Amino acid sequence: MLLGTQRVRVDCCQGSTRATPYRWPFSFVGFSPGAPASGPQLAEVERRMDILWFLPTHGDGRYLGTSEGARAVDLPYLRQIAQAADSLGFHGVLLPTGRSCEDAWVVAGAMIAVTERLRFLVALRPGIMSPTFAARMTSTLDRLSNGRVLLNVVTGGDPAESEGDGVFLKHDDRYAATVEFLVVFKRVMAGENVDFEGRHLAVRGAKLFYPPAQKPHPPLYIGGSSEAGHDVAARDCDVYLTWGEPPAAVAQKIADVRQRAAARGRVVRFGLRVHVIVRETESAAWQAAESLIAHLDDASIASAQKALAHFESEGQRRMAALHGGRRDALVVSPNLWAGVGLARGGAGTALVGDPETVATRLREYATLGIDTFILSGYPHLEEAYRVAELLLPRLPLSHPRRPVEHNLTGPFGEMLAQRYTPAAARAGGVTPSGTQDPEGSTRPRPRAPDA
Ligand SMILES: Cc1cc2nc3c(=O)[nH]c(=O)nc-3n(C[C@H](O)[C@H](O)[C@H](O)COP(=O)(O)O)c2cc1C
Repeated sequence: MLLGTQRVRVDCCQGSTRATPYRWPFSFVGFSPGAPASGPQLAEVERRMDILWFLPTHGDGRYLGTSEGARAVDLPYLRQIAQAADSLGFHGVLLPTGRSCEDAWVVAGAMIAVTERLRFLVALRPGIMSPTFAARMTSTLDRLSNGRVLLNVVTGGDPAESEGDGVFLKHDDRYAATVEFLVVFKRVMAGENVDFEGRHLAVRGAKLFYPPAQKPHPPLYIGGSSEAGHDVAARDCDVYLTWGEPPAAVAQKIADVRQRAAARGRVVRFGLRVHVIVRETESAAWQAAESLIAHLDDASIASAQKALAHFESEGQRRMAALHGGRRDALVVSPNLWAGVGLARGGAGTALVGDPETVATRLREYATLGIDTFILSGYPHLEEAYRVAELLLPRLPLSHPRRPVEHNLTGPFGEMLAQRYTPAAARAGGVTPSGTQDPEGSTRPRPRAPDA
């Protein structure tokens, strides 16, 4: 294959080093999930979960396929989502890439300054970026963010977009070019002075002067579903991502990538990118799913599916095949709903249900070997809070939720009558200082002059 023409030895990445040490895989101890008997018990799940959120740089709103309920995705709004995800304790956020998105690197650069712990999963685009330039961008963003960069290798699945960007290679050749890109990228990131001449790219004296915070480079994620995509994942990447297909299909993909990686003496981790529609009750969740596509008409679905059918992407083909463009058969496996894919390219499914049910479904994927979950919901700001409040406490996170600066006794809800926390009021009136209010909770004192 193409590597026959190159003059360098190709080393497989054995996993990069984070600025802070990895906290997984861990076995579970002391987690009491209260999971339904039908779902996998947490003791069966071997790894803790990295839960990421999503920055919707190609638009956001309350409904799909309409400008009703849509909102401007501008700097203040993206900042709100990133800061919410940061303070709610998400591991990171995925930034999509493509001509319909605000540029992921520019947005990530703006967000690192207003967040503290949040990681940014940004795309490397072989064919569009030079590997040396990509190494420079990676290193700068990684150092300036104190090691908060994650990299998504996106070979590209939309030929129209690729041609507009000057890439005329066919599908498998794009992956062949990706392999060459990663050879040069990794060696440059590792501090080597690189001469390389491949079939698709060549560099002479490529060098990085300023090293990244994470050594030898930030972790590499990849999401291709074709054989060529699986091969690149197996030989070069740290985390293989799949969109939310039914568990049996995901299990097959995991087995295939694992086998290909093992043949190269490598181990790859696995991640799932899926939307979530979680509500306090099952019926409210399904209502919310219906509401999300309530304004999506048949003509819009047909236009979207026609455009997506031109993609050269096995992953996209598999997503579209789940619903076949029909809105009457959208539940493709228990609690897995394909309605998002009627309008949206890429991640087209959502896990729908009450918090315990959705947590159980995520744990089912975890038992297959998934330890990274990239979640999202519309609109992304409100849903970040909803997911953090309803779902995250039920999941075994690899990342601690941010410690709360206790002003009283931690999160308590809104104060009652400017005096009592809800729990204190229910208990008959205990003031914030912990003393029993002599007047009792039923006779609030006049407000203090400075209140
Ligand atoms: C989680 C995930 C995220 C992806 N993000 C992007 C993206 O932001 N932009 C893009 O053009 N493709 C994206 N892709 C698509 C793939 O990277 C890949 O280029 C495409 O599916 C074609 O490869 P395939 O035929 O091997 O599936 C993503 C895929 C996955 C699974």
